[in-house]
Amino acid sequence: MSFTADRLLLFGATGDLAQRMLLPSLCALHADELIDPDLKIIGTARTEMNDGEFREFAREALEKFLPAERRGGMAGFLNRLSYQPLDATTLEGYNALAEKVGPTDKGLAIFLSTAPSLFEPTIRGLQHAGLDGETVRMCLEKPLGTDLGTSCEINDAVAAAYPEERTFRIDHYLGKETVQNLLALRFANLMFEPLWNAACIDHVQITVAETVGLEGRVAFYDDAGALRDMVQNHMLQLLALVAMEPPSDYEATAIRDEKVKVLRSLRPVGEGETVTGQYRAGAIGGQAVPGYDEELGKDSDTETFVAIKAHVDNWRWKGVPFYLRTGKRLPERVTEIVVQFRCVPHSIFAGKGATMQPNRLVIGIQPEENITLSLMAKVPGLDREGIRLRQVPLNIAMPDAFVGQHRRIAYERLLLDLIEGDQTLFVRRDEVEAQWEWVDAIRAGWDAQGMTPKTYTSGSWGPSAAIALAERDGVTWHE
Ligand code: BG6
Repeated sequence: MSFTADRLLLFGATGDLAQRMLLPSLCALHADELIDPDLKIIGTARTEMNDGEFREFAREALEKFLPAERRGGMAGFLNRLSYQPLDATTLEGYNALAEKVGPTDKGLAIFLSTAPSLFEPTIRGLQHAGLDGETVRMCLEKPLGTDLGTSCEINDAVAAAYPEERTFRIDHYLGKETVQNLLALRFANLMFEPLWNAACIDHVQITVAETVGLEGRVAFYDDAGALRDMVQNHMLQLLALVAMEPPSDYEATAIRDEKVKVLRSLRPVGEGETVTGQYRAGAIGGQAVPGYDEELGKDSDTETFVAIKAHVDNWRWKGVPFYLRTGKRLPERVTEIVVQFRCVPHSIFAGKGATMQPNRLVIGIQPEENITLSLMAKVPGLDREGIRLRQVPLNIAMPDAFVGQHRRIAYERLLLDLIEGDQTLFVRRDEVEAQWEWVDAIRAGWDAQGMTPKTYTSGSWGPSAAIALAERDGVTWHE
């Protein structure tokens, strides 16, 4: 049933995500008149607050996290907000919450951004108060479990109240404009698809590097680690978009069907195909930063860096390694995908002394979106001593190509799609489960081998073993 919700209920409304992302995104959508004037936003959390206090809380968050030029009509936006305190663990408060939400016949979208332990009691409470009808959508923010088993428990609890077509699982990377542009690059241009296979591609690299450390998320991060925090979700989604077959159309089912096929084709990772690391004190951008153990206040075996050599076992990708790496406290914040093509089959220039490098496509996702294709070109000259060739970049800087466009927060797109009911950029249950299955096997391998993270200095590109992982195959990480 298609509907545009006129109520949005935010669980975790006083939390970090609400302050940094959700409230700013909603305010920006309001400023651009992209949400219906009738949409009411109800916040809920444990903290006692009335509507006025919540609006004040939201105003402070917006002033802190939304650039001034995107805060147009902030007073109008704040007027949409109301608040109901709730102890999510007991059934008692849910009827009052339902009363605050009001009629849901036009449509209610619920955004659950709470601790995973609260998922089940919250869903029970929502059912108890009748907030689970056909016009109610449920949106879930990570972490959705810590392994396949716990993720299935959460998914089962959700499915008991909200069918899959009304369940929206967030992976905020899919909300990034630049990630969606991967689909445009691959499927709106003729020249890449015929080459996008094992015959023409040597390997793929996906890097998600961060300069930040723990950021105060002590309890969460130490239980998660880089594999569960970044690879299980964001990096596997990027890999799926790079590796999937062309979907028949830009619709939720077609796209998600193709992604899940890739995720299910991931080969279990073998011994020696992963490297883990944990940062020690160092410097980033000239600033001294403490080590993970110092930030945590104790020793830990949690990995803050992981590099993996992955394989997609299907016809298209046979024998093409996908090198993945992500880490905290690396020298720069960069997310990019590198597609390394093979050499031309025969060099007509060899007899003239020229050396050649294979083409490479670098898709920069953040902080800047740049697409660079390196091509071989002849160095100008009369070539009396032979022909010289050099690699030159064909460079597209997206911000220059689309001047005047807002840089949007990923959640703007996702919240709007949730309100309007478009699941294309949300992760389906079978995708999440395939992701966990692959990641759980990696963790089981680490346990079986007694593998613990190697240390690396903050501001470096991770442990030297990560460099060796690629170099062994004659591959150099793109930096
Ligand atoms: C989150 C992780 O999902 O993604 C964080 O929990 C990480 O640890 C963040 O910092 C990175 O997101 P972005 O959009 O800044 O690349």
